[in-house]
Amino acid sequence: MARRVESALLLLLICFNFGNALHLEVLSTRNENKLVPKHTHLVRQKRAWITAPAALREGEDLSKKNPIAKIHSDIAEERGIKITYKYTGKGITEPPFGVFVFNKDNGELNVTSILDREETPFFLLIGYALDEQGNSLEKPLELRIKVLDINDNEPVFTQDVFVGSVEELSAAHTLVMKITATDADEPNTLNSKISYRIVSQEPPYPPVFYLNKDTGEVYTTSITLDREVN
Ligand SMILES: *[C@@H]1O[C@H](CO)[C@@H](O)[C@H](O)[C@H]1NC(C)=O
Repeated sequence: MARRVESALLLLLICFNFGNALHLEVLSTRNENKLVPKHTHLVRQKRAWITAPAALREGEDLSKKNPIAKIHSDIAEERGIKITYKYTGKGITEPPFGVFVFNKDNGELNVTSILDREETPFFLLIGYALDEQGNSLEKPLELRIKVLDINDNEPVFTQDVFVGSVEELSAAHTLVMKITATDADEPNTLNSKISYRIVSQEPPYPPVFYLNKDTGEVYTTSITLDREVN
């Protein structure tokens, strides 16, 4: 048995185009899916096999993209062995369950749910080719699935009320307070970029406060603050 596993490992180092290997194809081909060229195969990098990550957009019906991936064992085909394919990982054998289903006979993997990047940004699945005794016929394969962000979260203030104070007669451009909000969309992208704005201030005119739209810092304008007036 140990010998068999060892030879399978070696066979995996043989390039896809030259024969024996457990192949993985990422079948998701929509052009929005820039990370995944059509029919991505295993890419050999140095001595390790790397599979290009599949990318699926959150918040949409993906059923038309099925199957999204497929694993295939050449060893099984060549030797005429009856093989069973299996996937494990988040979305199949770990929560959230039932996000993916697979066909054990042909190795096809389908996505069944609408994905939520804020819940699970990334799935790591392992694909297996098993013989009738349930032993791995080939070295298990990693399939990485990245969930692409859409701008489906609104910014939320970190507090219901922010209280600031400033002395009267303060100089213009005195920092009064800072308001902060967070956005659950993917960090460091436009989807999560927050811009602040003063909707109204009382008294409205002349405005005694202005705000830095990027930092949320509120400053005094050059209008002199007089506590006895407001
Ligand atoms: C995966 O999706 C394809 C296309 O809709 C379908 O033909 C196939 O039966 C599905 N396989 C599984 C295991 O659900």
